[in-house]
Amino acid sequence: MKKYTDLTDISNLEALIEEAKALKKDPFSFENLGKRKRLVMLFFNSSLRTRLSTEKAAQNLGMDVTVMNFNSDAWKLEFEDGTVMNGDTSEHIKEAAQVISQYADVIAVRAFPTLTDKKKDESEYVINNFVKYATIPVLNMESATAHPLQALADAITISEFKTKDRPKVVLSWAPHTKALPQAVPNSFAAMMQLCDVDFCITNPEGYDLNPELTKGTKIIRNQKEALQDADFVYVKNWSSYTNYGEILNPFETNKNWTMTQEKLGVAKFMHCLPVRRNVVVEDAVLDSNQSLVIPQANNRTFAAQVVLKQIISP
Ligand code: CP
Repeated sequence: MKKYTDLTDISNLEALIEEAKALKKDPFSFENLGKRKRLVMLFFNSSLRTRLSTEKAAQNLGMDVTVMNFNSDAWKLEFEDGTVMNGDTSEHIKEAAQVISQYADVIAVRAFPTLTDKKKDESEYVINNFVKYATIPVLNMESATAHPLQALADAITISEFKTKDRPKVVLSWAPHTKALPQAVPNSFAAMMQLCDVDFCITNPEGYDLNPELTKGTKIIRNQKEALQDADFVYVKNWSSYTNYGEILNPFETNKNWTMTQEKLGVAKFMHCLPVRRNVVVEDAVLDSNQSLVIPQANNRTFAAQVVLKQIISP
């Protein structure tokens, strides 16, 4: 694997999931592979799970890790080509990416979308400029439109907890008070399209994901109908793609989309976290043994570890 910026970088998903599970059983089996190699993690946005699990994954492989909160600690970056840099940006991505490449063996980047400029977000200008100008592999820790490490952890979790060969998996939109990116549902949908599952998405009118990414996937408006006989229910809020980055209605209008124990039935509950209790999902679900959110978060380590292992392997 030369880089991991989206799911197309995976050549054999089934093998990758099995390798991740093997690493989970024996996390230090490749503890010398990363010796004298350094992962530099650049955060343009907040994180709990991605930061801690990716750092742990690298250390399990024997790598050294440097973490930088880019917005507060680094010079403000310019991404436009040919700009007269007489504004608030101090350093161009061309130099920054090449300089970081002198100090690291892998660069990991987290950079959320603007949610105001669809074209700019879809160009993935932050992560793609790192790919373009860095001379070392780049790892996506959640970009404007994708969260491939989360999606890999989700696929590992479903593989561990499924009780039938082809489980039914539902991605169910949930209400929220803030406008959130589409990166997690985009990557989850793309991942489910690669897995042997019966997959559908349910969301209210106006919240369809990018049709390019969901083509071939059933979108069911009626949440109750979609949830029927589900084995796994992945709940997530996202802002509108059509009315880009907007919340279309006040919370009260869509609060009937909150996941409840009654709606979940006997299915397993999944969410990438962080989650707003009693907005996205009620307490009873999160506190039940049907909730997989903690094992899912644990699998973030082994998703990151298997990807880093493949990237640094000779
Ligand atoms: N799921 C996830 O990416 O969590 P963090 O935002 O805390 O990293």
